[in-house]
Amino acid sequence: MRTVDLITKKRDGGELTETEINSLIRGYTEGTIPDYQMSAMAMAIFFRGMTPTERANLTMAMVHSGETIDLSAISGIKVDKHSTGGVGDTTTLVLAPLVASIGVPVAKMSGRGLGHTGGTIDKLESVPGFHVEMDNETFIELVNRNGLAVIGQSDNLTPADKKLYGLRDVTGTVNSIPLIASSIMSKKIASGADAIVLDVKTGDGAFMKEMSEAEELAACMVDIGNRVGRRTVAVLSDMSQPLGNAIGNALEVKEAIDTLKGVGPEDLTDLCLTLGSHMAVLAGVAADKVAARKLLEEAISTGQALEKFKIFLIAQGGDPSVVDAPERLPTAKYRFEVPAKEAGFVATIAAENMGLAAMLLGAGRATKDSTIDLAVGIFLHKKIGDPVQVGESLVTIHANRESIEEVLIRIYESIQISGQRVTPPPLLVGEIK
Ligand code: URA
Ligand code: CA
Repeated sequence: MRTVDLITKKRDGGELTETEINSLIRGYTEGTIPDYQMSAMAMAIFFRGMTPTERANLTMAMVHSGETIDLSAISGIKVDKHSTGGVGDTTTLVLAPLVASIGVPVAKMSGRGLGHTGGTIDKLESVPGFHVEMDNETFIELVNRNGLAVIGQSDNLTPADKKLYGLRDVTGTVNSIPLIASSIMSKKIASGADAIVLDVKTGDGAFMKEMSEAEELAACMVDIGNRVGRRTVAVLSDMSQPLGNAIGNALEVKEAIDTLKGVGPEDLTDLCLTLGSHMAVLAGVAADKVAARKLLEEAISTGQALEKFKIFLIAQGGDPSVVDAPERLPTAKYRFEVPAKEAGFVATIAAENMGLAAMLLGAGRATKDSTIDLAVGIFLHKKIGDPVQVGESLVTIHANRESIEEVLIRIYESIQISGQRVTPPPLLVGEIK
């Protein structure tokens, strides 16, 4: 099979067979197919798209390009959650203990990654002593014993995706829905998920800014999952403003603790209950979403979810006293209030720009070698639709330096105040299964 024939077939709108896709991905992973041929193929896919069968075959070819995690020693249906990424998204920290407390086994592989704030692991590491270094047996034993554990992502998962993603990044082929969908789904499947709940974000702070694109991506991932025997549900959620109030690592841990106590921000709570309900139904611990939501609400009000979070921290070396004394989390040296310059109603809080402001403070990584400051970040006192008075604080900046000019400029740029009443954007904008 000549690679050039596969490229021309796709270029001319043909459908690649399973054998052809497998040989392409195997050759590329092993290095017998060079980057220039794979670039041409990615571009052909970008313009021609892929059929549902091709997308499913590409996903599984990438799954089988490296190590796959076997979670069969954990009893129950392992449901994983994936978010397409946003600003101040604290859901994993809340969801993992929340669903585990009602009996959904959570075997979470997580990353550090790049972004406005750290990944789930960075956030958890702001709890003194907490670590994710353990072997696979310990990981599985912890999930069986406590119902949840978080481990760092293995470097050996889906090498084909790693290589292809890097290539797409420099060849103008990132933004192809079948390539994005198979990339994301291959990683979830290789990490051992039996079922998958996707949180696909839409709006300014999201990867897919347009609702129609977010919907298409969600439908594509759900279709792939269902075709390869992993029940998959997607929730579409708004990211036109940051989720919750906290953007920053330790600040988000505190926000997650508040949410587990039942006093968290309304949007974050609602999203966690929604995603958690889907997870509970897929895991078979609740008959339907309504019953699931009731169980989750009870887990919060009885303190069962918070208790699970403490057990989880202790099992991974973390100091559980942060739950009752969040001041033990890393704290920034300086706090600055950002007063409103005019009165009215908050009309926009441009999520992406707010994320960049947090990054300027040091909350995120610009490159994979940057170090991140767990203590710094931004806390929003207002969300879209809220009334404000002149001089009232819009946000608190938590900083470890005194000069914050650039950060202030970005924050003022991001937050627009209108003289007219503003209707807040709905958080949950769709569902695909
Ligand atoms: N995230 C991924 O993991 N893969 C993509 O292709 C795009 C976003
Ligand atoms: Ca948040």
